[in-house]
Amino acid sequence: MMGREYFTTMKLFFLLFLFVLVTVSVGNFIEDGSNDPSGSVKWWREDGRCGVNYKLPNGRPAECNPLHPMGHTCCSDKGWCGKTSKHCQCPGCIDYTARWRKDLRCGEEYALPNGYPAQCDPFHPQGKSCCSDLGWCGKLAKHCSCPDCQDFRALWRKDLRCGPMFKLPNGMPAQCDPRSAKKYSCCSKKGWCGASVQHCKCRGCVKFTDSGPIEFNQSTKKWNKVKLRGSRKVA
Ligand SMILES: *[C@@H]1O[C@H](CO)[C@@H](O)[C@H](O)[C@H]1NC(C)=O
Repeated sequence: MMGREYFTTMKLFFLLFLFVLVTVSVGNFIEDGSNDPSGSVKWWREDGRCGVNYKLPNGRPAECNPLHPMGHTCCSDKGWCGKTSKHCQCPGCIDYTARWRKDLRCGEEYALPNGYPAQCDPFHPQGKSCCSDLGWCGKLAKHCSCPDCQDFRALWRKDLRCGPMFKLPNGMPAQCDPRSAKKYSCCSKKGWCGASVQHCKCRGCVKFTDSGPIEFNQSTKKWNKVKLRGSRKVA
């Protein structure tokens, strides 16, 4: 009797063991099987730790949430996600929101830490804001104007001036940042980017959005698309 009960219990344990093994393997397979950073796999931890000493369940170093609600998108050299220069600008820091690389490489073959293809700095101090077909950021025609080139030059100025009186380095009228953190996406009649009614809804004001410039019609109270001369779609 005793022997038989023992045998049954062991069989149960063995089946349980098999079940756990299979579940864990399938779980790992699913996690490792997805390299898509926009997919459902989470590359960061809830405890705000990151880097080689703070691993994910799948064994990879944890990253920081690039869309963190409080902006804690950089991993410090001490392994904490945060948003200060200690997290974002130190030599070992990784900024998971950065869209370009310090080595000026770009394009499909040069990924960011988050796995996306690298872009070029739209405000690069030497103007190297275009990605050539060979994957280099630069400012020459071979970077900006070839068929497979990508132009990341900013359509707005850091001094928040805009409109026909305030030009970009390429001579076109400056626009406003459609994704401005302070919502300064509208150009006033006097040429300032801002968010107030005077910037957005006056006659002659233009609001810049990801899908193009729009203006407010005083009589219909509706936003209409506007066509600006020489405007270029934001990448
Ligand atoms: C506002 O919309 C009306 C009706 O569509 C149009 O007739 C008028 O020209 C528009 N005004 C401006 C300033 O575009």
